[in-house]
Amino acid sequence: MCGIVGAVAERNVVEILLEGLKRLEYRGYDSAGVALLQQDGTLSRIRRTGKVQELADAVAEGEALGTTGIAHTRWATHGGVTEKNAHPHFSPERVAVVHNGIIENYQSLRESLTSKGYTFTSDTDTETIAHTVHEELKSGCALLAAVQHSVKQFHGAYGTVIMDKEDPSRVVVARSGSPLVIGLGLGENFIASDQMALLPVTRRFIFLEEGDVAEITRREVNIFDKDGNPVERDVVESNIEHDAGDKAGYRHYMLKEIHEQPTVVRNSLQNRVDDNGLTADIFGPGADEIFRDVKHVQIIACGTSYHAGMTARYWLEQYANVSCGIEIASEFRYRKSVVHENSLLVTISQSGETADTLAALRLAKELGYMSSLTICNVPGSSLVRESDLAFMTRAGAEIGVASTKAFTTQLTAFLMLTLALGEHNGISAEDKTSIVSSLHSLPAKLEETLAITQGIEDLAEEFADKNHSLFLGRGDQYPIAMEGALKLKEISYIHAEAYASGELKHGPLALIDEEMPVIVVAPNNELLEKLKSNVEEVRARGGIMYVFADKDAAFSSDETMRVINVPHCEGPIAPIIYTIPLQLLSYYVALIKGTDVDQPRNLAKSVTVE
Ligand code: M6R
Repeated sequence: MCGIVGAVAERNVVEILLEGLKRLEYRGYDSAGVALLQQDGTLSRIRRTGKVQELADAVAEGEALGTTGIAHTRWATHGGVTEKNAHPHFSPERVAVVHNGIIENYQSLRESLTSKGYTFTSDTDTETIAHTVHEELKSGCALLAAVQHSVKQFHGAYGTVIMDKEDPSRVVVARSGSPLVIGLGLGENFIASDQMALLPVTRRFIFLEEGDVAEITRREVNIFDKDGNPVERDVVESNIEHDAGDKAGYRHYMLKEIHEQPTVVRNSLQNRVDDNGLTADIFGPGADEIFRDVKHVQIIACGTSYHAGMTARYWLEQYANVSCGIEIASEFRYRKSVVHENSLLVTISQSGETADTLAALRLAKELGYMSSLTICNVPGSSLVRESDLAFMTRAGAEIGVASTKAFTTQLTAFLMLTLALGEHNGISAEDKTSIVSSLHSLPAKLEETLAITQGIEDLAEEFADKNHSLFLGRGDQYPIAMEGALKLKEISYIHAEAYASGELKHGPLALIDEEMPVIVVAPNNELLEKLKSNVEEVRARGGIMYVFADKDAAFSSDETMRVINVPHCEGPIAPIIYTIPLQLLSYYVALIKGTDVDQPRNLAKSVTVE
C-alpha cells in the first residue's frame, strides 16, 4: 500500500528519496512522486503513474536539487490512477503533503475549503490536508502548530508528512492509524512509513505512536503526543539485513522466499523447542501465567494470516483441548460479539500494520479479553507494540506481495502455541511427543518437499490456460486448500475456489467439467478414505484432478488424475508441508502467464487502510 519517504539534510536528498521509494515498491502502488524544497527557495514536484523507475527517469532529465524533500508511492483509494492524483499534493505555492490512509470527512472539508477560496486540482482526500494546513499557516502560526491544529479536523487514518516552502529547514509529520518511523542520521534525519525505506541511510529508528505529531529538522526531532505534550520515544536499533531486498539470484522475490522456508522455519524454532518441548518464556515474560487461565482462544486476522489461524483452530482444539474461534478482522470489528470467559485474543499478521486487524485488537481491549497475543513478523510494528504479548515469527523481510514464508512460520508458531496452551489443558504425552518431534523434522522435510519442483513446473504447463479451478482439502488441510486458491488467484489471476471436500455434493459438484481443474491435497491421515470418496465423486462427473498425495496414500495417475507425490510426514506438520507444492504451482503458473509475480495488480503488501 502507499509508501512515504522524507528527508531533511545538508546534502541533496533526491537519491535518498528515490532509493527509499524503490525499497517500498514491494508494498504495491500505482503512481509515485517527489517534491523538493529547492536551494533557490522554490517548491518543485515531479509525479508519474506507473513504476518508480519512470519517476526516476523523469527526475534524471532535470536538475532536481533539494536538501528537504518528501516522496510517495500511491495505491489509489480516492480518485483514479492519474498524475494529478499522485502525491505530493500542494496548496498553492506553499505547502506540500504526502499521506497514507484515508481522510473520511474529506467531502465536508473540501466544501468548507472551497468556500474559503481554495481550488482543488485532484480527486483525492489528501489535498484537503494541504489546504487545511495552509489555512492554519495563514493565521500566522508555525508549521508545527498548523499541523497540530489541522489534525484535530481530520477523521480517519493518516500518516502524513508536510513541508512549508516558507520554512525549508523542517518537515512536520503526524501519525494516526498509519505507521510512521523516524530515521536518525548524523546531521540529517528522515521519515518513512516503513524502516525498509531508510536502511541505506540509518539503522536507528523511532516508531511514532498513535496521535503523535513530530517536527524533524537536520539536528533535532521533537515529538508531541495527541494532547500536544512533548514526549520522548525509544530509539530502536534495527537488525533487519540491509540487503534483505536482494533477490539472491532468484528470478523473483517470491521464489526466493519460497526457498528460504527451511531456513526461516529453523530460525523460528531455534532456542524455542528442545527435545523435551518448549524452552522457558518463549511467548514473553508473564505469558505462562496468562496461559494457565486461558479457556478459549479467539483468533483474528486477514488473508493468508487468516488461513494460518484457521489451521490453528484444528490444532488447538485437537491437541491443546482449548476451544477456539477464528474470524476475519474486517467482520469482527463491525459486529457485536460475545467474549468467552478467560478468552485470549490472538492476532496474526505478517506486517503488524494491517488496519482491520489493528482495529480488531483495539476493539477487543475494550470488550474485555483477558489478554492479547500477536504472532507477527515485524518487530516494532503497531500490533507488536499494542498487544500484551508478542511472538516474532522470524521469517525475515518478506518482499513478494504473495505471502509464503510468513505463512509457514505462522503455522510453526501456532504449533508452539498449541504446546504452550496444551501444557495447562491436559495435552496427552503422546501428542506432545508427536508435535515436538515433527517440529524437529520440519526444516529437513521442507527441504525435501522443495525438491519436487520439476513435477510442478510440468503441471503448471497444463494448468496455465485454464480460467477456473477448484481446490479441495479436509480437516486441517482445508485451510491449506484455501491458501492454495488464494495464492493462485492473486498472482496468476486464475479464478480459484477452495472447498472442504465434504461440501462438494452440496453445490460445487455442479461446476465440474474438463475445463475446471480440481486440485486435491491428500496426506495419509485419518480422513484419507473420506477424501478418496470425494475424489471418486469428481471422477464420476468427468473432472480432471491434480492430486498432491503422500506416496503411501495409494493414488495413481491415470487419464483423469495426475498424482504428484509429496514426501511422507509424521505428526501435525502436514499442513505446513502441503503448502509448499501449492505455492510452487501458483508461482510457475504465474511465470507462464507472465504476470507481475512480486507485485500483482491491484494488491498491496501491507494493507494499512480498511
Ligand atoms: O500483514 P498481514 O499478514 O496482516 O496481511 C494480511 C493479508 O493482507 C495478507 O496475508 C494477504 O492476504 C497476502 N499478501 C496474500 O498472499
